[in-house]
Amino acid sequence: MNAIEARNISKSFAEVRALDDVSLSIRQGDFFGLLGPNGAGKTTFMRILCGLLSPDQGDLRILDSRLERWQIPFAMGIVPQDIALYDMLTAQGNLELFGKLRGVQGAELHRRIDRILDQIGLTDRRKSRVKTFSGGMKRRLNLGVALLSEPRVLLLDEPTVGVDPRSRAGIFDLLEELHSG
Ligand SMILES: Nc1ncnc2c1ncn2[C@@H]1O[C@H](COP(=O)(O)OP(=O)(O)O)[C@@H](O)[C@H]1O
Ligand SMILES: [Mg+2]
Repeated sequence: MNAIEARNISKSFAEVRALDDVSLSIRQGDFFGLLGPNGAGKTTFMRILCGLLSPDQGDLRILDSRLERWQIPFAMGIVPQDIALYDMLTAQGNLELFGKLRGVQGAELHRRIDRILDQIGLTDRRKSRVKTFSGGMKRRLNLGVALLSEPRVLLLDEPTVGVDPRSRAGIFDLLEELHSG
């Protein structure tokens, strides 16, 4: 089964051709890294994969089906390049809010939040507001939010930018653990 199958995807912004006929298949269970210099089109490609942007051309299948836009946040975990958290809420408050937005509630939501806080190493800071967090802590919580729906496909855009070497190793360890689990 393919987790992601993209065929002949093209996208232009005015005169900039950000993606030119991109095709790739990623099998379920694979770890796939998209490498390229700034401006290569990585973020544009991911925005198309997660339904935030429509391609000018091409065909896309996620988990072997063509998803409606509203289904995408339920099937995929998305860790955006730009941190998307509420500064005035605590770590726990952000996880509760985003969990509810994904339709997870009650005891199940709290079970997932406890596990995620442990995985991202923020259990002891769960009651702190995000505005007091370091860049690396925000990155880890940003990843935690994407895990709330227990996604079968996880997309991460520059997940370790601004993260110190030790936390970066921690993020890679966590990704390997999620991948094998
Ligand atoms: N919303 C947009 N409007 C105009 N140009 C854009 C937009 N998004 C991306 N681009 C352009 O598309 C190209 C690819 O950008 P991007 O996908 O962000 O690259 P990467 O993530 O690999 O650094 C760049 O030239 C960028 O300026
Ligand atoms: Mg980018």
